[in-house]
Amino acid sequence: MKTLLKELDLPQHVTLESISWGRDSQVYKVKDGRNQFALRVLPSNRHDQFVKEEKTILYAKQHGIPVSNVHKVVKAEDYSAMLMEWADGKTLLHQLQETPEHAKLLGEEFGHMQAKINRVNYNQPSNLLLSNQKEKRMLDSIKLNNHFLIHLDFHPLNVLTDGLNITAVLDLVNAGAGDPRLDYARTQYLLKMVGDQYLEEQSLKQFLDGWRKGIGGQKINQALEEWAEIRTKRDLGLG
Ligand SMILES: Nc1ncnc2c1ncn2[C@@H]1O[C@H](COP(=O)(O)OP(=O)(O)OP(=O)(O)O)[C@@H](O)[C@H]1O
Ligand SMILES: [Mg+2]
Repeated sequence: MKTLLKELDLPQHVTLESISWGRDSQVYKVKDGRNQFALRVLPSNRHDQFVKEEKTILYAKQHGIPVSNVHKVVKAEDYSAMLMEWADGKTLLHQLQETPEHAKLLGEEFGHMQAKINRVNYNQPSNLLLSNQKEKRMLDSIKLNNHFLIHLDFHPLNVLTDGLNITAVLDLVNAGAGDPRLDYARTQYLLKMVGDQYLEEQSLKQFLDGWRKGIGGQKINQALEEWAEIRTKRDLGLG
């Protein structure tokens, strides 16, 4: 960690609070006097992921999406690290657990923010499906329009809120050019698959209703649902 801090131009005396552990990622809140940062750490073999994500974050920012500025991406010893602005607010999941009576409204805000992201034109080659022929075939019946920015991990732990509005969009590691319907299918699958582990049945239903309204009532057909299941399982190492 000493070497990482040095590479990031941070003094050795900063305080580090561990915020979360992913499968092989860690997030810390870093405090240096009055400054606060988020420090995300990955194994060094995934350094390219942070380099790509930094570009996506910058693009999203330029197009009015509330993302945290990236200060630095560095590789040191066995680790890659991204130091970014600390965004205030609670995760939307935390907020939903605190005020389940607002689930419908919060769902709507969540959907509005996703639709806002998905309206951003992004003329990059889409690499979402190239690597996997099976997933590509599943979507053969749909003419995809992959020229939009999609998040592809848009769920209540990856957005922050002030209780009313979505104030920050986090974790753009999967984001890229794609068809908005892929993003909606993925979010729906995540909410349906694990939502009931975190939320009461009634608030989950209200949240889903609000979200559907927020995204403008986009239809997610069976082919998209099946694709989302396969793709998510692959990402989680279950497929
Ligand atoms: N810039 C930030 N500002 C405030 N909080 C943040 C920031 N970045 C991350 N967090 C907090 O850390 C949590 C996890 O961050 P993040 O989503 O980037 O990593 P992860 O989901 O653990 O990693 P991954 O899914 O890529 O393995 C978020 O839910 C949020 O609470
Ligand atoms: Mg996350």
